[in-house]
This record gives sequence, structure tokens and C-alpha cells, in this order.
Amino acid sequence: MKKETRKAVIAGNWKMNKTPAEATELITAILQANEGADNSGCTVVACVPYVDIDAAVKAAKGTFLKIGAENCHWEKSGAYTGEISADMLVACGVEYVIIGHSERRQYFGETDLTVNRRVKAALEAGLKVILCVGELLEQREQGITSEIISMQVKIDLAGVTAEQMENVIIAYEPVWAIGTGKNATADEADEVCGGIRATLAQLYGPALAEATTIQYGGSMNAKNCAELLGKVNVDGGLIGGAALKAPDFTTIISAAR
Ligand code: PGA
Repeated sequence: MKKETRKAVIAGNWKMNKTPAEATELITAILQANEGADNSGCTVVACVPYVDIDAAVKAAKGTFLKIGAENCHWEKSGAYTGEISADMLVACGVEYVIIGHSERRQYFGETDLTVNRRVKAALEAGLKVILCVGELLEQREQGITSEIISMQVKIDLAGVTAEQMENVIIAYEPVWAIGTGKNATADEADEVCGGIRATLAQLYGPALAEATTIQYGGSMNAKNCAELLGKVNVDGGLIGGAALKAPDFTTIISAAR
């Protein structure tokens, strides 16, 4: 299977931005900016804060735009104050969920073991998972990027079946590139995304590895998206800052198409 046969996926990660009213406004602007475009070549997702889900699902209803969440808990219900279960997201009309974002790992004590539990719970609930992996600047400087990424992929996907992998997208997000305006070069992104594909081949065989969508994320924007998305192992993007501006997000979607 070649890059052209893999589904390109562009996902916005809104992080802790936008009220429900602002979410409706931004989604309406994204839909307007994409009016008349052929959406067959690219899946587009907006991953929004929990409180915006209802407004976002309503605003995107019947359109090409899918709605995602930014995290979920691994238990179905119970005494987990402040948490949201995968089943709750499904009940609200959510189709995608980001798991293991580096901001969760850095600021909220997320580990590969908890990421793995969340990935499995999300898949069991029927969500599509955008699993984030990425190295720290020190790790890149120590020359251990490929080992770190391979370890994250292996632990985060432990117990995930080949069948479930159809609903998994992997996002390579070097931590030093997120929100810094300093993106990985297209060649660096391609090399690590290719390494992720090699790890998937070890775990699940080459056909599944070739079929899996692997995104790059970290300061992808309207200017650098075409070069990054043109790389053979980069099948899409996970976009933070630029996803909050309808024209920039639309430029990135167009590049992926
Ligand atoms: P950024 O964020 O595009 O603002 O760097 C990407 C992400 O954190 O997913």
C-alpha cells in the first residue's frame, strides 16, 4: 500500500480554548471556508474541550467535519472526580479522541501505562483514537529519539488487536516543536513517522503498518504544511494554534487533500 491509498487525517487540537459560543462561531467559519470543496481525500476532525462538545456536534452535524475530544478516562464510571469516560463521549456524539498528548504527560502525570489503559477503553467504546507520541528536546539531543518513540508505541498499544488498529491514528509530536513555532523539518518528521511504521510492522506486520495513518504535529501551519504533508510517511497533521484560525486550518486541509 502506498501513501496515496492511506486516508489523510487533519485534526485540530483546540486545547483549553473557546467557550461553547466561540466553538459554534469557529466551526461555522471553518465550514464556510470549505464550502464546495471535495472532501473525499481527507478526514477532518476538530478535537474540542469537553464543555464545547455539544455546541460543536450541533454546528458540524451533517457536514464533513467530525468532532473529537482531547482525553478520556479508562473506567466506564465511578469515583473519578473531574474525569470523563469514553462511553460519555460516545453518548455526546464524539467520534475521535486524542490520547497521550504531551501536555497530559508533562503537566498531568500521564504515563505510557495510563495512556495504554485510556487507548484500550476508548477503542472498546467505539471511538477512533489519535495516539500522541514524541520525544523531549534532551532525548533528541542524546540521539535516543527512535528508541523513545518505539518504546512509547509498544507500551501505548499493548493489548490492542490488529482489528482495533483500524481505529488508531498515530500522531508524532516532538515535544520541543509543540506551540514553539519551531517545527521539525519535513525530513525529520518523515524519518520518525517512518520509524513508527517500522515499529508497527514489528508488532502487527507490514500490511497493517502500511495502512495506518501517521500524522505529524508541532507548529504545523499554513506555511509549512505542504512540505510536511508531502512526505511519504506523513499522512496528516495534528494542529494546535493554527486550528484556531479558520483560514489557516483551511489551508492545511487543502494541502492534505
Ligand atoms: P501546535 O500544537 O500546532 O500549536 O504546536 C500541536 C499539538 O499540541 O497538538
